[in-house]
Amino acid sequence: MKMYDLINKKKKKETLTKEEIEFMVQGFTNGTIPDYQMSAFLMAVCLNGMNQEETAALTVAMANSGDILDLSQIHGVKVDKHSTGGVGDKTSLVLSPMIAALGVPVAKMSGRGLGHTGGTIDKLESFPGFSTTISTEQFIQNVNKVKMAIVGQTANLAPADKKIYALRDVTATVDNLSLIASSIMSKKIASGSDVIVLDVKTGSGAFMKSYEDSLALAKEMVQIGTIAGRQTFAVITDMNQPLGKNVGNTLEVIEAIETLKGNGPEDLLKVSITLASYMLIGAGIAKDVEEATEKLYQTIENRSALDKFAEFISAQGGDSKAVYDTGILPKASIEEEVGAPVSGFITNIHTDEVGMTSLILGGGRETKDSIIDLSVGIRLHKKLGDYVNQGDSLATLYANDSSKLQEAKQRFLQAYVIGSEKPVTPPYVYAVVT
Ligand code: URA
Repeated sequence: MKMYDLINKKKKKETLTKEEIEFMVQGFTNGTIPDYQMSAFLMAVCLNGMNQEETAALTVAMANSGDILDLSQIHGVKVDKHSTGGVGDKTSLVLSPMIAALGVPVAKMSGRGLGHTGGTIDKLESFPGFSTTISTEQFIQNVNKVKMAIVGQTANLAPADKKIYALRDVTATVDNLSLIASSIMSKKIASGSDVIVLDVKTGSGAFMKSYEDSLALAKEMVQIGTIAGRQTFAVITDMNQPLGKNVGNTLEVIEAIETLKGNGPEDLLKVSITLASYMLIGAGIAKDVEEATEKLYQTIENRSALDKFAEFISAQGGDSKAVYDTGILPKASIEEEVGAPVSGFITNIHTDEVGMTSLILGGGRETKDSIIDLSVGIRLHKKLGDYVNQGDSLATLYANDSSKLQEAKQRFLQAYVIGSEKPVTPPYVYAVVT
């Protein structure tokens, strides 16, 4: 078999076999297929597409290119959740302890974020002493004992995806549905859970801006998960404004804790409960969304989710006192209000720009080696449909470096559109694909 022939086939819009795709992924991972041939192939995929069988074969080949986590030592049905990413997205921190408090094991491998804020494991590092690099043995032990563990991805999880993604990034081949779906699902399949719930974001702060593209991605990923023998659900949720009010690592942890205490914003709570419901249904703990929702609300009312969160933080070496007293978490030294330039309704939020504001303040990574400032970020005081008087605070910026404030403020003001008509606000959840 020759890579040249496979590129040529895709150029002529022909379909590759499973064996051909395996050959290509193995060869690229072990270095016998060079970057330039893989780049040509990826571009041919962007131009001519891949069918469902090819996409599934690519996913499985990438998942098999490294370690497949063996979670068989964990008792019960293992559930995992993945978000396609958005601004202020802290649902994992809310729903994982709820699910775990109901006895369902959450064995989660999370990436570090590249972009406006960190990923879940960056956020968790807000807790002094918290370790995201525990051994696989300890990980399994913790899930069995606490029902919840969250660690960073091992270097050898789907290495083919890591190498291919790096190439896509520099060859303008990221935005292809089959390539995105296979990239995400290869890591989820290699992570070993039985049930996968995908949070596919849609809107101005999402990877997929239009509902149609989000739906197509959701369908593609559910198909792949099903072919790979995992029960897979995708929930399409709104990202036309940040989720909740806090954006930034420690600020998001604080908001997640407030939500577990019953004081969280409605959108964050509703989206977390919807995602968690499908995790419970997949685990066989609830027969439908109504039953799941009731059980999940109880974990907030009886504080079992909050206590579970503290137990989890402590089991991974963190200071769990901070769960009950968030005042001891890292704090930014400067607080600056952003006043509304005119009076009116918030008619539109360019959510990506809110994310960029957080990045400017130091809350995200521009390159994979950037160091995140966990304490900086934004607290929003106004969201879509709210009315503001000129000069009212739209948000508080939290910073440690005053030289970044002006640029951050300007960027934030570009994100908010103020008009005279009250807009129709988007739903929290659009659809569920099973
Ligand atoms: N996230 C991934 O993991 N892969 C993609 O291709 C896009 C987003």
